[in-house]
Amino acid sequence: MTVDEMRRELQRRLKKSRFAHSIGVANTAVALAKKFGADETKAYIAGLLHDCAREFENDELPAQAKLRGIEIGDVERAMPLLLHAYIGAQMITEIYGVDDAEISQAIYRHTVGAANMSTLDKIIYFADMIEPNRNYPGVENLRALVDEKSLDEIFLTALSESIIFVVQKNSLVHPATVAARNFLLLNKRE
Ligand SMILES: [Fe+2]
Ligand SMILES: [Fe+2]
Repeated sequence: MTVDEMRRELQRRLKKSRFAHSIGVANTAVALAKKFGADETKAYIAGLLHDCAREFENDELPAQAKLRGIEIGDVERAMPLLLHAYIGAQMITEIYGVDDAEISQAIYRHTVGAANMSTLDKIIYFADMIEPNRNYPGVENLRALVDEKSLDEIFLTALSESIIFVVQKNSLVHPATVAARNFLLLNKRE
């Protein structure tokens, strides 16, 4: 599929606001790839397709995960929405013909993160938080970091904000998010 065909297919499958969000993440990811040195085409495709599994309703996600041999952990069982990242990482090949391990990994990791994330992984995670349609208290502060900080400094702030957010909601903290943040702190370059 060409990128144009991917866009059309995605538009057909997602509701309007989710598609607009996807375009926002794709464009933001390209800008971040330019700034921090990642493949711009991969950034666009990963951003575009990162939420492709959101075509399923939340209550369909566990069955869709099982269908693909995805293991469902305790946190995912309690919050099935998280499964869209792992399902999406496979659907890009099934539906959109994208056979690229880096893009797939970035989509897999876009919601809860992981230890040792690649530049593309970090870009997609952060683009998802700051794309232009996002509107929540503090988003402007996160956007402003792009011109001031390194990608790792930005990503550390993003992870900390995510953890604070879920803790304040009394929600579960996914261990992968803690692993992502600890990895950054333990491997900080001076
Ligand atoms: Fe997502
Ligand atoms: Fe998203």
